[in-house]
Order: sequence, then C-alpha cells, then structure tokens
Amino acid sequence: MDHNVNVVYRSLNFSALDSVEDDRLPGRRSWERDADGPVREAGGPGRESPSPENRKGRESRRGRRTADAAEAEGRLQGAHGSGVQSWMSARRQRPTQDNGPSAGEGDDMVDPWNVSTSSAKGVDYDKLIVRFGSSKIDQELVDRIERVTGQKPHHFLRRGIFFSHRDMHQILDAFENKKSFYLYTGRGPSSEAMHVGHLIPFIFTKWLQDVFDVPLVIQLTDDEKYLWKDLSLEECHRYAVENAKDIVACGFDVNKTFIFSDLDYMGMSPGFYRNVVKVQKHVTFNQVKGIFGFTDSDCIGKISFPAIQAAPSFSTSFPQIFSGRKDVQCLIPCAIDQDPYFRMTRDVAPRIGFPKPALLHSTFFPALQGAQTKMSASDPNSSIFLTDTAKQIKNKINKHAFSGGKDTVEEHRRCGGNTDVDVSFMYLTFFLEDDEQLEKIRQDYSSGALLTGELKKRLIETLQPMITAHQEKRKQVTEETVRQFMTPRRLDFDF
Ligand code: TYM
Repeated sequence: MDHNVNVVYRSLNFSALDSVEDDRLPGRRSWERDADGPVREAGGPGRESPSPENRKGRESRRGRRTADAAEAEGRLQGAHGSGVQSWMSARRQRPTQDNGPSAGEGDDMVDPWNVSTSSAKGVDYDKLIVRFGSSKIDQELVDRIERVTGQKPHHFLRRGIFFSHRDMHQILDAFENKKSFYLYTGRGPSSEAMHVGHLIPFIFTKWLQDVFDVPLVIQLTDDEKYLWKDLSLEECHRYAVENAKDIVACGFDVNKTFIFSDLDYMGMSPGFYRNVVKVQKHVTFNQVKGIFGFTDSDCIGKISFPAIQAAPSFSTSFPQIFSGRKDVQCLIPCAIDQDPYFRMTRDVAPRIGFPKPALLHSTFFPALQGAQTKMSASDPNSSIFLTDTAKQIKNKINKHAFSGGKDTVEEHRRCGGNTDVDVSFMYLTFFLEDDEQLEKIRQDYSSGALLTGELKKRLIETLQPMITAHQEKRKQVTEETVRQFMTPRRLDFDF
C-alpha cells in the first residue's frame, strides 16, 4: 500500500459516532477530535450532482463544523459515558496527511457515494481500518472460520478481499455455542443493470449462507434511490424487482432468504416500521450531518433514510422469521462504503435494546480505468455490467482496462509488468478461483514472460463464461420466483 497517498475520507465524519462505538473509550473532549478529525467538509449523498445550493451549504458549514461536532459528541458521550481509547491510539498512529484539505481541491475520498484515491494501487485499506476503528481480518480469524465451519475459506477471505470486520469473533463464539444469527445485506436499485462489483457481497453472502446455514434478509432500498436520484417511485420499484432477479440468480435458497423492497415492506410490517422510528428517535440531525454530510438543503427523506437502512439489523423487523425474538444477532457483509450506516446502527442498538450488528467489509472492485475509483454504474465505460455481451466484455477490457505493462514489448520483457496497478490482474484476484494459476500469472506478468494482451485474454476468458452463466441463471428466474422470495413468510428455521 502506498502510505504517501493523501486520502481524505470526506463525508465519513468520525466526530459523531465512530468513537462511541468502542466501549473502552473514556470521555474524550470534542476539541480533540475536531482538532485533527479527518473531515472538515461534509459533502453528502446529493454530491452525485451537487447543486449550487448544496455547494453553498457545504462552504458555510465549514465554519459550523466545530460546534456541530462538539454537540454531537457531547450528546453521544452523555448517552454512553463510554470512551474511545482504541480510537485515540489509532489516531496517534494516523499520519497527518490524512487531514488534508477537502476534496474538490485535488484530494481523494471514500464515502457511501464516492470512492477515489490518487494512488494507482487503490484505497489504502490498512489506513481505512485504523480510521474506521474496525478490525483487520487476519489469518487467525480466517483459520477460525475454517475450523468452525469445516469449510475451506472462500477465496475472498483467503486473498483479503474481505479485509475488515466488526465483532466477527462474537458471531463465531455464539455459533459454536449453537446460538444462531442471521445475515443481512442489500442493494440500492438505481438502474436495471447491476455491475460486476455489485456481485461481490452477494457471492460472498451466498457462501456464508451455505456454510453457516442461517436466514438471510436482503433489503432493496428503492426508497433511497427515489430520494437521491432523478427517478420516479415506479422506476425505482421496478429496478428493485429487476435487481432481485440478479440477486436470486446468485443461487440463494428461497426457503432461507427473504428479499424485500422498502417501498413494499414498510407498509406491510409494523415490526419494521417500529424499529425505524426507534432509530429515528435516537439519532440527532447533528449526528447524521456529521456522519453523512447532510446539509440544510437536503430533503428530510434523505436525513431520515439511515434509520431505514439500520432497521433490518434488528430481528424484530422480521417477526415472521424470528417469531418476535429481539436477541438474534445480525451479520452484515458489504463493501466498506456502507460502514457509516452501520456505525450509526451499532451506536444506537444497545440504547434501544438490541445486539449490535456484526460486519464483514470488502474492498472495492475497481473501475476499468484504474483502482483510483470503484466500478460505478453511472459510467458505462468504467464498468462491466451483468447484461454485457461476450463481445462487449472483450472490447471493454481490451480498450479500457488500465494496464501495468510497459510501453513496448521489449521493455516489458526486460522489466516486467506491475500487478499492483494492473486492473486485469486485480479483476483476476476477484474471479480466478485457482490460487496456483493466479500466482503463476502474477509471476509471469511481473517477470515479463506474460504480455498485457495475454493477461487481458486470461481475464476475458474468465469473465465471459462467468457472466454468460449468470445471464443463463437469471433467465430461469421467473416473476413467480421473485414473488416467492419477496413475500414476507416464515423461513426454514425454528425461532
Ligand atoms: P449499492 O447498491 O451501492 O451496492 C450494493 C452492494 O455492493 C457493494 N458495492 C461494491 N462492492 C465491491 N466493489 C464495488 N465496486 C462495489 N460497489 C458497490 C456495496 O457496498 C453494497 O454492499 N444503500 C445500499 C443498499 C443497502 C445495503 C444494506 C448494502 C441497504 N441495506 C445492507 C449493504 C448492506 C446501496 O445503495 O448499495
């Protein structure tokens, strides 16, 4: 990892909630965080196309940050009386360049809506763990998962693609004591076609469901996309159903999985809505401003939305599955961009009588143009979609995949390529399952024995059949199958 990269985690403001997460922390003064907190300027969800109004709001907000952060912290510390020792020690290790000027002045960012870094190697995930206060998935944890499940760990775990966690040991302790848990993940249906990056959490969740044999709930936040994008409610709901087909095609078991659209389920489930309201009551506007960068000109739907993404973390949101039990812990696999929602959720959980959800975080599947940003559905050339034809996949990779190869064949043969920045190689680490083959490719490319064109060919040959197989499976998913998955019902578990 390039530790010189100046990564400003804009918008993921830690002043409000991350610290309270760690119960070991004694009281911390607001100025300590504010003095070198990572975020001076909160952008916000609307940043996809910031309005002049929003920009103005952000600028004026700069001046207010100190007071807001202090108030948010004050409330939280008052509520918990808990401290933040590990955060403090982590902060001590934090290089000062993290606290650089805000994005828009040439810096990099990571938040639920944007990911960018100036390093061709991608985001510095080790730093991110320190800043988010999560824990690294180390070899000991991977070995323990293997022991507990009796299964070879998924290559996403073996290769550090899922790299960070919160409370995974607690989940394993409970599981060893025959106490069940459930899985919760989600998707914001902003378009009909999902891209390959969106598959990462679902592929991994499917593996987790297989090896732990636990219930799974999948939230489709069509309400979120209506609030954030220029889309009608009908479009968002339709995309939710279309995306559900792609999710079902990942192979989930209908007897163990409940998929729901917020627009449908909120009106059907008093349990779910009650939990939304409980969360809403326990998080202040200052706190969500601090975490998500909301401004005075954001609509109130956005401001209260985090409570809706939090609520499925609590088992009473699904009385039909958990028979009203409130003590079933939840494990959330997602990419690390979603962590702000769940830092907030973990802070609120004990105050409203629920266990904190545990998390498993993945790295980002990079854009074709390079690991400076994640694959994004809004830029068709940055992404390989699950609807792309074999020819489109080939053309996109050949044309756009950033290469770590040298300029001429002679130079490449002599000096070798750089797999740390080569997007085709990065994609293979996600999707080429055979460890030995991957290692051979790494060695051959680094030595210059394998040329960029040949490496790209390997990737094309890996992705084309994978996407075609997905498309075939999706074709088998009927409206009736989706209806079954999306009907609130009892699953094949006794609670
Ligand atoms: P969304 O639709 O942006 O993303 C869906 C899931 O895919 C992950 N993801 C990626 N993973 C790897 N590489 C990428 N390039 C990449 N892009 C996206 C996201 O982290 C997410 O796990 N608000 C959420 C929907 C949601 C949710 C949840 C997600 C509701 N509840 C619980 C995770 C867990 C959203 O818009 O995700």
